[in-house]
This record gives sequence, C-alpha cells and structure tokens, in this order.
Amino acid sequence: MSIGANLEKIFSLENKVIMLTGAIGGIGSVLAKGLADVGAEMALCDVDPEKLEKLTAEINENGKAKAFSLNILKMDSIKSCVDSVIKEFGRVDVLINCAGINKREGFLDVTEETYDKIMGINLKGLYFLTQEVVKHMIKANKGNIINMSSHNAVGMLGGVSVYGATKSAVTALTRSMAIEWAKYNIRANAIAPGHILTPLTTVTWEHPERAKYLRERIAMGRPGEPEEILGLTIMLASDASSYMSGMMYHIDGGCLAGGQPWPFDTKY
Ligand SMILES: NC(=O)c1ccc[n+]([C@@H]2O[C@H](COP(=O)([O-])OP(=O)(O)OC[C@H]3O[C@@H](n4cnc5c(N)ncnc54)[C@H](O)[C@@H]3O)[C@@H](O)[C@H]2O)c1
Repeated sequence: MSIGANLEKIFSLENKVIMLTGAIGGIGSVLAKGLADVGAEMALCDVDPEKLEKLTAEINENGKAKAFSLNILKMDSIKSCVDSVIKEFGRVDVLINCAGINKREGFLDVTEETYDKIMGINLKGLYFLTQEVVKHMIKANKGNIINMSSHNAVGMLGGVSVYGATKSAVTALTRSMAIEWAKYNIRANAIAPGHILTPLTTVTWEHPERAKYLRERIAMGRPGEPEEILGLTIMLASDASSYMSGMMYHIDGGCLAGGQPWPFDTKY
C-alpha cells in the first residue's frame, strides 16, 4: 500500500458527519475547510447566516457542507439547530464545540451582563448543545466530541477571569463526558490552543505591550496560525485516536513549557 493510502486509512474522515459550532470564526472556518478537504461532511453552525452561506458555498466547490443557524445563548436555537442537523444528515459522528467569546476586563470591572454572556456562550451553551447531540450519539451507540478549551484553562493572563473560568470548566466537562459516555462508545477530548492569531485575539496582538509580553512567553516567539490547530483536530476526529479520551492537548508553541529562555551560557 502506498504511503498516501496508509495515511488515508488511518486518518480518513470519509463518511463522517462533523457538526462544528463557531464555524465562521478564525479557527472554526479553517477547521471547516480542512476537515471537509479530508472527506468529512460538515454541518456548519454559527450566528451570522451570510458569512455561513459564503463559507458553505466555498467548501461545496470541492467538498460537502451545509449551513445551520445557531445562537448558542438560546435554548430553543440549540434544539432547532440540532434537530435540523439530524434531519439533514441522520446522525452526528463528531461534534466540535468551537464557539466562544472573550472580553478582557479586570476581575473587579466585570459586570453581571458580561459574566452571563461569556458563561452563556462558552459554558452553558456548550453544555446544553452537547446534551442534545449526545442523545442521538447514544442511540447510535457511537460518537466523538472535541471541545475547544484554551491555554487559559491552566495558564492565566490578567483580565480574562471569566473566560479562563469557562475554559477550565470546559476541560472538566470533557472528563465528565469521557467517563459518563464511554459505555456508549463515545469519546471526548479537549484542545487547548495557546495564542493563535484570529479575530478573537487581534486586539491583543495589535497591542504593542501585550504582544511583546506574549512573544516572550512563547518559546517559538510568535502567535500560532489557525491552520496549526487542524492536524490534531483531524487526528482526534479520526479513528487514529480510538483509545484517546478524557484528555486535553495543548498546541501552544512552547508556552506552557516555559516560553523563551532567560540568557544562559553556551559554547554554541
Ligand atoms: N484564538 C486563540 O488564541 C484561542 C486560544 C484558545 C482558545 N481559543 C478558542 O477557540 C475557539 C475559536 O476561537 P477563535 O479564535 O476562532 O474566535 P473567533 O472569535 O474568530 O470565533 C468564535 C466563533 O464563535 C461564534 N459565536 C459567538 N457567539 C455565538 C453565539 N451566541 N452562538 C453561536 N456562535 C457564536 C462567532 O460567530 C465566531 O464564529 C473559541 O472557543 C476560543 O475560546 C482561541
């Protein structure tokens, strides 16, 4: 068998229906295209119908995608979105929870409104959308969930207390999903992106002091690109990861490892 055919056998997403929230976002749109490129049928869910249709049309030039309207803050929208995906595809093989927001404010400045919105999208919405989807996965006796957590689940920055709390919680939920649903052949894992350049983080990377602060804390000295989240996502979505469940995997350019080293003596 050729190298290509072997790789395809291990990592193929052919005939897998992948439901992706946050599909039009910086990371989501790259995952949507990249997963479709390796054979997945994509159910793309997000709030902005126009951007969603544009992305869907782009993917449909070579792959297969359908757009579904979702406001994850609203329980009736969650229910109707999942119902529509099931009506269209008959099943969800892989759910990728990628919708998420942030607002950078000191702990003492956060209002109840901000708190509720970040919690509502990043945590409550993810929780109840997953609940709806997993009812169908249980009936099918198989399933796979990938939650987009964050470096901030473990390593904190100033002014992101609510966001960090939601991401630590998403990591904890990933463990609950893995242990409660293993008996139905459902796996769950989380990805913790480090500092990736997307619309969510442009404000930080355009801020000279914060950008300098971050570069020093990333061993590779640069932000990640959304494309650098794709490889692990393909692996977690495919059967190559059939014994992987309940864990969080970091993609952070050596941020948690310690960032850029202090000056040290070397003969090289
Ligand atoms: N960019 C980074 O550095 C980084 C780092 C760690 C984790 N993450 C996580 O990765 C995920 C994607 O982030 P991104 O950088 O692509 O951000 P992004 O802002 O580009 O995309 C977020 C997506 O969530 C969608 N969304 C927002 N509110 C919604 C709602 N009410 N209902 C449905 N969808 C809604 C947006 O429309 C958007 O498409 C998020 O969960 C984020 O927390 C990003």
